[in-house]
Amino acid sequence: MAAALITGASTGIGREFAYLCAEAGYDVVLVARNEGKLQALAAEIRQKTGRTAYVFACDLSDPHAPQALYDDVICSKIDVEVLINNAGYGMLGKFAELNAAEQMQMIQLNIHALTCLSRLFLPAMIENKRGKILNVASTAAFQPGPLMAVYFATKSYVLSFSEALHNEVSESGVAVTCLCPGPTATEFDKRAGATMTKLFKGAMDARTVAKQGWNSLKANKPLVITGRKNAAMAFMTRFAPLQMTATFARKVME
Ligand SMILES: NC(=O)c1ccc[n+]([C@@H]2O[C@H](COP(=O)([O-])OP(=O)(O)OC[C@H]3O[C@@H](n4cnc5c(N)ncnc54)[C@H](OP(=O)(O)O)[C@@H]3O)[C@@H](O)[C@H]2O)c1
Repeated sequence: MAAALITGASTGIGREFAYLCAEAGYDVVLVARNEGKLQALAAEIRQKTGRTAYVFACDLSDPHAPQALYDDVICSKIDVEVLINNAGYGMLGKFAELNAAEQMQMIQLNIHALTCLSRLFLPAMIENKRGKILNVASTAAFQPGPLMAVYFATKSYVLSFSEALHNEVSESGVAVTCLCPGPTATEFDKRAGATMTKLFKGAMDARTVAKQGWNSLKANKPLVITGRKNAAMAFMTRFAPLQMTATFARKVME
């Protein structure tokens, strides 16, 4: 049976992706660090959708984790047809003052794990002429982000990488989509230390965001920006100097 592997499935947008994939008839491979939450979600999914749900608890900021996860999935003879690289986090504060190790781990998770997992699963998808990869970036991808400098830069990478990959595999039967959510009601703002910013006022709900991503992946769209206002803002940044967009981004972060 074809399966969908979702990173960051324990909460937020990833949890909704897990449901959407199971409802669409895929078995699901749930990945995050919190095994208890994943096991509870797996039980719910089995009960509500009748699909098989596997749990692989791991810390994807460990540089060796993506390969170990891939090896475990292959060993378990799971046929991954859909890869959703969703796990990620941000940190609010000045680059020089935030915990250095945590910022490097963010780069490992947001960039390295996403790239490694894409590289590991894509060749079989191309060979089978079927497969889907959804990479979760952010509206942060479109401009520099003072007070979240590393996070914004990691999401620019995800956007650029995904657009290039979409182009490379366009004739292969494999779909690649980049999802750019704006502020969404999840655990993200708590982990980022950003609950007090103006940014999360009027945040979208995680189910709507995941659904837009999933529908765009099914249609093999290269890019989806959730919410009309977010899409308009992302479009406008194309015509503004980087310094101006950086100043604006800082204002909403304070
Ligand atoms: N919420 C927003 O406003 C927003 C806006 C734009 C983009 N995004 C992006 O959307 C994606 C999903 O975030 P979310 O909003 O749903 O936030 P969330 O509720 O905090 O979910 C993040 C998920 O990633 C997992 N995760 C975190 N660190 C991990 C690690 N080292 N190894 C493996 N899994 C890890 C978390 O589970 P564990 O803690 O159990 O590991 C959780 O399942 C992220 O890439 C984020 O950057 C979010």
